[in-house]
Amino acid sequence: MQLEAPPSDLLFSPDEHERAWELFADFASRYLASVAARPVYPELDRPALRKIMQTPMPRSGTSLVELLEEFEAVIVPNATHSAHPRFLPYVQPTPNAIAPYADAVASLISQNCNLWHLSPSANAVEQTVVRWFADLYGFPSSTGGLITSGGSAANLVGLTAARDHALGPDARTRGLQGNGPPLVLYTSDEVHSSIDKAVSILGIGTENLRHIPTDAAFRMRIDLLEAALRRDRAEGRKPFCVVGSAGTVTTGSVDPIRELAAFCKQEGLWLHIDGAYGALTVLSQRYRAEMSAIGLADSVSLDPHKFLFCPAEAGCVLVRDRAHLRHAFSATPSYLTMSEDPDFIDFANYGPQLTRSFKALKVWWSLKRFGADAYVRVIDRMSDLAAYMASAIEERADLELLAPVTFNCVCFRVRSLDDAGNRTVLKRLVDSGDAFLGPASVNGRIGLRACFMNLRTSQSDIDFILDRTGEIAAGTP
Ligand SMILES: Cc1ncc(COP(=O)(O)O)c(C=O)c1O
Repeated sequence: MQLEAPPSDLLFSPDEHERAWELFADFASRYLASVAARPVYPELDRPALRKIMQTPMPRSGTSLVELLEEFEAVIVPNATHSAHPRFLPYVQPTPNAIAPYADAVASLISQNCNLWHLSPSANAVEQTVVRWFADLYGFPSSTGGLITSGGSAANLVGLTAARDHALGPDARTRGLQGNGPPLVLYTSDEVHSSIDKAVSILGIGTENLRHIPTDAAFRMRIDLLEAALRRDRAEGRKPFCVVGSAGTVTTGSVDPIRELAAFCKQEGLWLHIDGAYGALTVLSQRYRAEMSAIGLADSVSLDPHKFLFCPAEAGCVLVRDRAHLRHAFSATPSYLTMSEDPDFIDFANYGPQLTRSFKALKVWWSLKRFGADAYVRVIDRMSDLAAYMASAIEERADLELLAPVTFNCVCFRVRSLDDAGNRTVLKRLVDSGDAFLGPASVNGRIGLRACFMNLRTSQSDIDFILDRTGEIAAGTP
């Protein structure tokens, strides 16, 4: 048997590699130059998408040129365009310029960031960005953390550590079958659904999740939190954790983190902060005082694929005492155990994944290429754009704000229409391809939501969006 040659079918020659980079570079520059002229939300070519979905697995290969032709003919025109200046739905940024390149080269060198000896330099980079983030809040040197797929995964990791800490040394062996009193977790009624999801995944059960009402500014009411906790204790349950929000998903409100930290300390509870949306605004002077209180928490999630403008996926979780992460996640079967080194960490022992990609590179480069001060300017600009939109809405007779604007998102509605009418206006606006906004539900009233995380949006885009909304509303029964 001759196995030395030929080279694998799955590799390119050096010439083919060069051609691939040329083709992709050409696509990137044409795409970015044309994106603002595209409909921000596509008019779907359903037959073309169905054809793709019905295609059987190919037995033989397709040329690079054909792959890219199909990508440009079907995938791109049926995609949403986060680089379009009027892309403002949910909490999703325009990617910054360097991070997509970091993703490409990280894939090329394909580091497995599970065990340090499989990825020593990536390990150093991941440790570095985790430390940079921990330092932003003044967390102690005992703090550990890791890059995750996003805020939901970061919340799940943080709450797993909290649960296992509450269950004690037997947590991994007995799980929730130990017949102790039910664990209870407290959060606000404005919290992101990833917390509800984590509570059910972790076996705590959503009937043991208390959504504490919020005040007029959508911040958790500590008096009601305390009353709920006393009731649960009196009825034999075991309160173990409070989740505060640093940026709630609808209005961007921030729970009173310092007061929550004092309360949790007094009551012996774990404080987790869901900072997926807002925690990184600590970089800006405007938000620093409020956000630096996060350093009092036991754990926090934050999302570089939000305010560091990384493309999906990049989240991060920090846990004040990294021993809690190891307690919850370490697994050292003999087939993995190779060597320990005081300079490095086996990130596989800090979270649920074994194989992990080198996401830390895009986070590191995002900060190294542009510097933290660039993010300060961008974050401030995002809240200025939101403030401008709010004042423009207040000047109009046909639209009204649903909530005061304190951050980078604006929830508003058409005055003359009911909830169903406002839903119709949002759908028509999005379907028109002129602007992509998301839905808002504030105090039970439905409207539209613009979330400013877009590096290309200007004041004239906001004027255009409001005029188009007004026009569509005028034609909506
Ligand atoms: C407040 C909040 N928490 C958690 C998440 C979930 O984050 P991810 O989408 O990165 O999983 C989001 C997403 O927008 C969010 O706004």
